[in-house]
Amino acid sequence: MDERGSGLTVGQVAARSGIRVSTVHFYEARGLIRGWRNNGNQRRFAREVLRRIAVIRVAQLAGIPLARIKKALDELPADRAPTGDDWTRLSAQWRADLDARIQRLTKLRDDLDGCIGCGCLSTSQCPLRNPGDRLGKEGAGPRLLDLPVSDLGTSALR
Ligand code: FES
Repeated sequence: MDERGSGLTVGQVAARSGIRVSTVHFYEARGLIRGWRNNGNQRRFAREVLRRIAVIRVAQLAGIPLARIKKALDELPADRAPTGDDWTRLSAQWRADLDARIQRLTKLRDDLDGCIGCGCLSTSQCPLRNPGDRLGKEGAGPRLLDLPVSDLGTSALR
């Protein structure tokens, strides 16, 4: 047994992370996590991979694209378990993103019962806030929800 210990199997990583084995392989194929082959040529992962996967999942749920997640994880040390400071640096990178999303979700929560400028003209507020779908001339989507075009139509979750 080498210095990494026996490590976790793909199945153990998937079970403890609450994801499918195929998702573990997907993350590894995309370079988001790294494992090794033991003397029996079986795939093994260090325990700290569980935290990486947890951060990947939370970041995905927060709508951060996989490419940005990988870029941030690539800055973490590959040869040792990341420290609290490492994670603090990582979360700082996403803070502005997360704050913007929190702001948009709050606006959505607060404005969803009124006119959102989507063109439906179906609420009592639409004649006031979007007469004749005037906002449609400005562009696609719910114009009063201030959503970036990138959020319309794509799903961040794998
Ligand atoms: S809610 Fe759709 S246009 Fe007002």
